[in-house]
Amino acid sequence: MTSAAEIKKKPFWYNIVFVAVCGAILIFLLKAPGETTARLPRDEIHQKFYPMGKKAAEKFCPDCHGDDRQVKFPKGHPPKNRCLFCHKKDVR
Ligand code: HEC
Ligand code: HEC
Repeated sequence: MTSAAEIKKKPFWYNIVFVAVCGAILIFLLKAPGETTARLPRDEIHQKFYPMGKKAAEKFCPDCHGDDRQVKFPKGHPPKNRCLFCHKKDVR
């Protein structure tokens, strides 16, 4: 059984290890590559989707994007039911 008193007796180096592990995780996260998925373009075609809600805008995407449409999906494209979750609006 571990009593409260015993927990308090943990040696000082536990704290150092704890801080070191946190630091390592932080560095790992900061070094992770940024997002690379193409953003929703800001051109004449796509500009009109910016003011819309995501769900409303996504109804129009399949008009042009699809395997039997003018713009085909690249090979190995992931599941594509919610376009704007991955192809985010360009905030610049
Ligand atoms: C009227 C036709 C049309 C509609 C509707 C449309 N697109 Fe497009 N889209 C295009 C064309 C044409 C291109 C290729 C030329 C370009 O980049 O504008 C394209 C390119 C793209 C690209 C690739 C950009 C890049 O950097 O390579 C993405 C992502 C995209 N569209 C997402 C969407 C999403 C999400 C929707 C729905 C909100 C949508 N499109 C609706 C015609 C359309
Ligand atoms: C689960 C995430 C996801 C969803 C949902 C999704 N895509 Fe993609 N899409 C990607 C990834 C990843 C790529 C390949 C990397 C890139 O963006 O160039 C890609 C590539 C594309 C490209 C080619 C971009 C280029 O630069 O050649 C187009 C166009 C595109 N997607 C349109 C759409 C449309 C339209 C929808 C909705 C019907 C959609 N995507 C839904 C993740 C997604």
